[in-house]
Amino acid sequence: MVTSSAPPGPPPEADAPFDGRAFRTALGQFATGVAVVTASTQDGDVVGMTMSSFNSVSLDPPLVLFSVARSAYSLAAMQSAKGFGINILGQHQQDLSNRFARALGDKWNAVDHRRGVHDAPLLSGALAHFECVPYARHDGGDHEIFLARVVRFHVPEAGEPLIFFRGRYHALASGAAC
Ligand SMILES: Cc1cc2nc3c(=O)[nH]c(=O)nc-3n(C[C@H](O)[C@H](O)[C@H](O)COP(=O)(O)O)c2cc1C
Repeated sequence: MVTSSAPPGPPPEADAPFDGRAFRTALGQFATGVAVVTASTQDGDVVGMTMSSFNSVSLDPPLVLFSVARSAYSLAAMQSAKGFGINILGQHQQDLSNRFARALGDKWNAVDHRRGVHDAPLLSGALAHFECVPYARHDGGDHEIFLARVVRFHVPEAGEPLIFFRGRYHALASGAAC
């Protein structure tokens, strides 16, 4: 059994003003890959967002998650989507990451892709595609957390991943496994 001698109530530092900028800097110490999450709307429009909040959740059932800012123009389309395409970007796809990180904008001009489950676009050149259907949505403060069930996946490209760390893109040092 685990016991704690800490007194009940919030720790004293909880009263200190919260430094949002320092919080972002601290979160930036966690290196992530970069994904573009896509969906098709009922009207046939397509949305896509660059996402570093992608993560694996469960093997059985196969679940993944990502969180969408409540301020994102794509949020409503994501909430009503019947399918998602999750595209794991390779090191050579920094341009695509920047393109899908721009609010609205002409994200799809000359972007090579095919359609996956419920028409969600799958980007050519991605290291992996996960075709998903909605599973659950949860409150995540200024984001909404999407849990999605993977129905198909592919690993079409053997390449190096695009890394996001301390607010910038990075590449893995070749052969630098430790
Ligand atoms: C590397 C990187 C990671 C990002 N990760 C997320 C994320 O996890 N969730 C999110 O809501 N926005 C994230 N963004 C920002 C969105 O991609 C950006 O706001 C996008 O323009 C939203 O598109 P929309 O407003 O047209 O829907 C990220 C941006 C970059 C460059």
